[in-house]
Formats: sequence, structure tokens, C-alpha cells
Amino acid sequence: MPITGGVEFKPAKASCSAVVGLQWGDEGKGKAVDLLAGEHDAVARYNGGANAGHSVVVGGVRFSLHLIPSGILYPGKRAVIGNGVVVDPWKLVEEIDGLNAKGVNTSGLCVSDRAHVVMPYHKIEDGLREDLLSRGVDGKKGSGNLGTTRRGIGPAYAEKVQRGCAIRMSDLLKPAALRERIAMALEVKAGMFNPWKEGKSGAELADVSVDSLAERAERIGQRLAPMIKDTTQVLQETLAGGGRILFESANGTLLDVDHGTYPFVTGSSCVVAGVGTGTGIPPMRLGRVLGIMKAYSTRVGSGPLPTELNDDVAHRIRERGREYGTTTGRPRRVGWLDLVAVKYSTAVNGATGICITLLDVLAGLTTIRVCTGYRLADGTVTDRFIPDAGDLAMAQPVYTDLEGFGDEISGAKKLADLPRAALAYVEFVARFVGVPVDIVSVGPGREQTIMC
Ligand code: IMP
Repeated sequence: MPITGGVEFKPAKASCSAVVGLQWGDEGKGKAVDLLAGEHDAVARYNGGANAGHSVVVGGVRFSLHLIPSGILYPGKRAVIGNGVVVDPWKLVEEIDGLNAKGVNTSGLCVSDRAHVVMPYHKIEDGLREDLLSRGVDGKKGSGNLGTTRRGIGPAYAEKVQRGCAIRMSDLLKPAALRERIAMALEVKAGMFNPWKEGKSGAELADVSVDSLAERAERIGQRLAPMIKDTTQVLQETLAGGGRILFESANGTLLDVDHGTYPFVTGSSCVVAGVGTGTGIPPMRLGRVLGIMKAYSTRVGSGPLPTELNDDVAHRIRERGREYGTTTGRPRRVGWLDLVAVKYSTAVNGATGICITLLDVLAGLTTIRVCTGYRLADGTVTDRFIPDAGDLAMAQPVYTDLEGFGDEISGAKKLADLPRAALAYVEFVARFVGVPVDIVSVGPGREQTIMC
């Protein structure tokens, strides 16, 4: 008999949901979060930083969010930036002010006191590392950079793991400790920054000056102080009160630091397991994991994209899908849907359902190709995903050709409104991946959504 100490033990209900990207980011998670937020009491981000970019269109107005959970656009929701996020506090304030200017109430927002801070020197370091990877050492050309967003994400996560000089949100409210950490961090990085300092203007040098940084960091801390909280407790109390939480992933599974196409990945755990470490809520509280995938593939930055296209079809998809980065404005690389990759991501996340976005972008193509296998260097074909970037780069996609659909579908409200070939495409995805398609999105607006 289990020992209960006389207390009635009730197993916790799996009442929460998560939205996670199944590709290389930019799958349209913001819209999915916005759709699901209504059924939840709080929305929480658990990973990434200002590298992410979520676009949501509400009432014809486009909102671009980087750090703040998209659920903020739903009045009355608690919006939480969890401890697993790396926060650029200046970007956060910029984002809050931008939302307020558009009439969005941000009073429900709170930020974990344990979230790590992205300091200006992390961004400089990100850039210097990228430049070094391109340039190489000892006159030998480098193997190529990662194509990061240069938002300081990798260096901030590295600082967190190295400990000692890292700054957390709560440290912004402790001037003496804050100054000491900044001084230590700059001392450790002096070898990197001293050559960089040559020829820099006063304004640029302020980003590596202890006095300037300590003063700016203290000031931004004061501004954010009312929203810096123990968010694990906030979320645990939400659950204890019978509330439901929606967890919002940033970036995508194939950019996950462990499960993505390393080293061409970001610095955080994008997969749903990141919910536990990134917020303090155990993943077994998740009843629903909605995997988001585009009807085709895109990737920003370097790294393999087996189905990549560089022809008129790519141009057409890029323009129709507005495939330019929300964060950096870079044109996204475009390719056919890679179902081998999507099936892998679905398994890694334990997705209970799929949301297909941007199906409308494919309208007008005679044939739509879908990658259903990889041909390896020895000529054999596999339906297993290859997470190693070097090996994946050698794989050739094996395609299944599906019939295209000519009609525009952006006005479709239910599955029956879709042309036969569009419906067949959705069914093909569900069958191949082995998980039901719950939602099909045919445009950026909330109303351009088919609930299956
Ligand atoms: P980092 O996250 O800035 O270090 O960049 C690492 C890689 O992830 C680069 O290839 C970026 O382009 C990519 N990346 C980071 N965030 C996103 C995102 O939200 N969408 C798409 N790609 C991203």
C-alpha cells in the first residue's frame, strides 16, 4: 500500500496545452497561440529570446512580438515570460511601449526573476563569433557562420551555464551585485573586446563600459521592477486555483539545441520538454501538444534544408507567404514540405495534433511536392530524419508528387470549402505523420482558420 500520511492524494490533471514549432521556426505559432489563448487563463513563454518573431493579425492590425507571449493580445490573460527565456530588457520595454501605443493592455505581463539578461556585450560577442566563423583563423577560411540573429542569444545562454558573471532579472534590482557582475563579465571578455574597441565611437564603447552599463541596467531594472516576479509560483498558483496555462515555444524543434540540426540551431530547448525547465511546471500537466507546421518549409540562417528551392516556385512562395524574417527582415530560404522532418519533430514533442499554416500560399501550383524519404550517399533510401547537420546536408530528398489546387482558398471557413486537392494534401500529411490535423490556417487573420 502506498503511504499517504493520511492525506488524500489526487493526481494533478493534465489541463495545460503547449504550442510548439515542428520545423525551423516561423511556422505561425503566434497565430495558433492567439487562437488557443481564449481557453486558457495564462500564456507562458519558456525558451528563446528576442531572436523569435511572432506575427499576429487581429482586426486587420499586424502585431510583431519577439519576447512577449502572443497571448497578451487576448484581454485579461496573464502573460508570463518564464525563467528559460533570455531577456533583453531594453527590447522588452520597447515591445511593451509599442503594444501600449496600439492600445494593448500589458498589465497582465510578468517576467521571471530568474530569467537571464541579454546584455549589450552578448550581442557584440554574438557578432564577433559569427565574423570569426566566416573569416577563419591563421589565414584559412572558416567553415562558415551559423547565421544567427546576432541578438546575443548563444552568448547569454553560455553565460548562464558558465555562472559567476551572469545577470538575472532580479539582479537588475541589486545595484552593487549588478555592477560587480558587469565588471567581471567585461574582464573575462577583455581579450575579445579589446581589439574590437579600436576605432569605435563613444556611443559604441558605452556597450562595454562598466559605468555606462551599470547605470543603464539599473535604470531599465527600475522600469521593469513591478513585473519581475517568481513566475514559477505565479504559474503554480494558477494551476492550484484550477486555471489552465498555454505554453508557447519560440523558434522550432529543428533549431532545438539538443534535437535540432546542430550546430545550426539556437541556444535553447525549443521542444516541449523545455516547458519543465523553462517554467517550473512539469510537462505531465500537458494534455494537449499542438505541433505547428507550414504547408512548405522555410529556414533562416545557415544549415541544411534538404528540400530547398531556388527557382520561380521559391520566389512565388516567398512573396505569397511574406517569407521575410520578423526579427531581422532576412529573406527566408524556401523549400517543399519535408514530412520526414515533421514526423520526427512530432514524435520528439509527443504532439497530440497538428496545425497546418499557410496552406493558401500553395494555391495556383500545378503539382505540390512532398519529401517522404532521403536518399543517402550509398544510394539507399530512409524515412528516418537525420539530425546531424553534416549528414543531413548529404541527403537527397525523395519526393511524392501531389496534385495542386488552382483556386484561392483564403476565404475557406470549413474543410468542405477546400478544393478536393487541398483536402487531399491535408489528409496526406495526417496519414504520413500519424497524428490528426486539428487546425488548418488559410490566412493571417483569426477568421481565416478552419477548426477540423
Ligand atoms: P540565434 O537564435 O540568434 O542564435 O540563431 C541561431 C539560428 O536560429 C539561426 O539560423 C537563426 O536564423 C535561427 N533562428 C533563431 N530564431 C529563429 C526564429 O524565431 N525563426 C527562425 N529562425 C530562427
